[in-house]
Amino acid sequence: MPTVTEALNTMDYGPAPESTGHAMDWLKSREFGHFINGKFTTGSETFASINPANGEELAQVAQGTAADIDAAVKAARKAASSWAALSGHQRARHLYALARLMQKRERLFAVLETLDNGKPIRESRDIDVPLAVRHFYHHAGWAELAEVEFPDHRPHGVCGQIIPWNFPLLMLSWKIAPALAAGNTVVLKPAEQTPLTALLFAELCIEAGLPKGVVNIVTGDGTAGAALVEHAGVDKIAFTGSTEVGRKIRHATAGTEKALTLELGGKSPFIVFAEADLDAAVEGVVDAIWFNQGEVCCAGSRILVQESVSEQFTNRLKARMKTLRVGDPLDKSTDIGAVVDQIQRQRICSIVDDAVAQGAVLHQTPAYEGKGSFVSPGLLTGLGAANIANSEEIFGPIVTLMTFRTPNEAVELANNTRYGLAASIWTENITTALDIAAQVKAGIVWVNGTNMFDANAPFGGMRESGFGREGAREGMLAYLAPAAPKGAARKAVDAPSAQPDANSGDAIDRTRKLYIGGAQKRADSGYSYAVAGAQVPLGNRKDIRNAVEAADKAGKWSGVTGHNRAQVLYFLAENMSARAAEFAKQVGEAETQAAIARAFYWAAWADKFDGRVHSTQSAHVTLAMKEPFGVMGVICPEEAPLLGFVSTILPAIAMGNRVIAVPSQANPLPALDLYQVLDTSDMPGGVVNIVTGPRAELAETLAKHDGVAALWAFADPAICEAAKAQSAGNLKPVWAESQQRDWQGAEGQSQDFLHHAVQIKTIWVPYGA
Ligand code: NAI
Repeated sequence: MPTVTEALNTMDYGPAPESTGHAMDWLKSREFGHFINGKFTTGSETFASINPANGEELAQVAQGTAADIDAAVKAARKAASSWAALSGHQRARHLYALARLMQKRERLFAVLETLDNGKPIRESRDIDVPLAVRHFYHHAGWAELAEVEFPDHRPHGVCGQIIPWNFPLLMLSWKIAPALAAGNTVVLKPAEQTPLTALLFAELCIEAGLPKGVVNIVTGDGTAGAALVEHAGVDKIAFTGSTEVGRKIRHATAGTEKALTLELGGKSPFIVFAEADLDAAVEGVVDAIWFNQGEVCCAGSRILVQESVSEQFTNRLKARMKTLRVGDPLDKSTDIGAVVDQIQRQRICSIVDDAVAQGAVLHQTPAYEGKGSFVSPGLLTGLGAANIANSEEIFGPIVTLMTFRTPNEAVELANNTRYGLAASIWTENITTALDIAAQVKAGIVWVNGTNMFDANAPFGGMRESGFGREGAREGMLAYLAPAAPKGAARKAVDAPSAQPDANSGDAIDRTRKLYIGGAQKRADSGYSYAVAGAQVPLGNRKDIRNAVEAADKAGKWSGVTGHNRAQVLYFLAENMSARAAEFAKQVGEAETQAAIARAFYWAAWADKFDGRVHSTQSAHVTLAMKEPFGVMGVICPEEAPLLGFVSTILPAIAMGNRVIAVPSQANPLPALDLYQVLDTSDMPGGVVNIVTGPRAELAETLAKHDGVAALWAFADPAICEAAKAQSAGNLKPVWAESQQRDWQGAEGQSQDFLHHAVQIKTIWVPYGA
């Protein structure tokens, strides 16, 4: 023991270990099976769960098989109808009971989490567990209110949920609490590295008297996850993890009716402007990348600092980095614990080695000499945007630093990634902060802060970071299905047969034209196909690519006010009215009048589908902004050639998107005739692009095109399935519907169109602090 004088001289920390006695007793007194139908199973193949801080085995847990998954799904199915039939209040009481019990076991949960994952006890105790508890309380509230707040919605049924190892209990809560609140039952598969807190949670389900089968937990590796994804009895899959596995799941669920939400990786920018409070921003980096060993999907892993302050900022950051304490995660003054396992450690080190080989300079604190899988905090400088460390998710405590000169350059660098999960913006200038917040492509933006979470703040990504939101009202919607259209299944139409355009010799070319970038365009193929009364262009990949380019150039439309968009749509509706007689000749009076009314209807919504301000636990206004996707593809319904076209295109553009529309293949004339109305309605060129031709081929090009941010397919089951599978590369959200809608009635103008036309950007702005 040092004397007081010696301690004051060195100012070193004394050891402050958290006791593990209780947690170890709990582990030793149990044999872990799966939790199925309200009880633990016994006697299956097992594997070890390891403490990454010392490499020692904590417990043997069961490896889930397809049969285990099947038993769990069946139990969840059996429990589903009676759970959904409970009143919201009764479900709320169950969630409330779980929250209370978790709170009572806070310490056991925190120690177990730290043992299993390697994260510092300070974080599991002060962040993971309280946030998990908060999630159950918050969603007990949603259970109570769901019926009134989400009319015309029903639970999906059985939800399969697969979670990663970085926040095991918190991710469990993010998945289970909203699912149960909405009236679903669940089968959850924790990550193989970190199953223990999920098993403790299972015990709480028994203690709380949760009806059997409502929560089922099957442990095991990715094969158990894959069996859950593939199980025909599952109605919805919710996944958090790597983008690679996210893609596999997108593929595996494409041919099914399973709903899907994906929360995947990120490479989030951390932008520091010259006028920022630099010390606060340095602390921000600590929270951004050195929290949870950097194993955070939304970690601020790319620092972008304005050139004029980069030297001071970097110096202060290096100095701060040296003060971080790497070591025993159970020590209360440890900042950085162990990464989850040796594989992850090697993965981190290998990316860092490659980054250095590509020219980056690594500044890292000395290696920690422990037995476990430790990685010291590091900073990579002197690297270009193309360096591997700037493009790959490192998922460790290593951050990159680059400089920028102007705000535009900052935005360009920030968005120079295929991901779009989060961004932090540091500036004392509110105009700069909100201007940049609007421009970054990220589902979550923190102003002068980072890594803040709350059950009432929607969380989720754009682009390859996945789709769907968790938390708040928006997260509840991901666990509820709106009323499905009641029409018959759509039938496939054969691809049209190509005929050369009749434009040779002195014959007048009567082939209609595509409408791209506000102008009539010949099809690239030079071919057309016959429909009743006309030849229409046979569009192909190249035409779609041209249309995407035109839509991309029409980006201003997304920044125009809702009022101005409404004006254009009203004008369009008026001009349609003026030409009603012509349209009526094509599709009849009833469809024409309904289409005109629909145009007025979506015009009315253009300035009213507002975002929200969520109240979170900290001093922030947390804005949930509804942003357009940008460029969208729409495969319009084959039926109702005018009304179906107008009903789908207009809500998309009313919300600020630009679209590439593939109209009815058999009768595209009303849509093609609409171009004249678009021209006379002040619709900027490129906002609506119309490409006629073989639906399946055009849908495939739209699904695969990286420049198309979202796709709607009102098409036959084969096109719907293909569109989902073909979008797995860029992971765009696909809204595919193979049941016909009643376009004349309420189904033709449901709120679903608006919900699917926007993505939520959650912006945390300090307020009243
Ligand atoms: P992973 O994506 O393989 O694992 C996440 C979960 O998916 C685990 O429960 C796993 O058992 C399950 N899983 C694996 N293969 C599956 C399949 N084919 N079907 C269904 N479920 C499957 O992540 P992993 O390999 O542990 O980590 C690799 C990298 O992924 C990390 O280095 C990191 O970059 C990233 N990652 C990102 C996370 C995030 O929250 N965004 C979380 C975990 C990892």
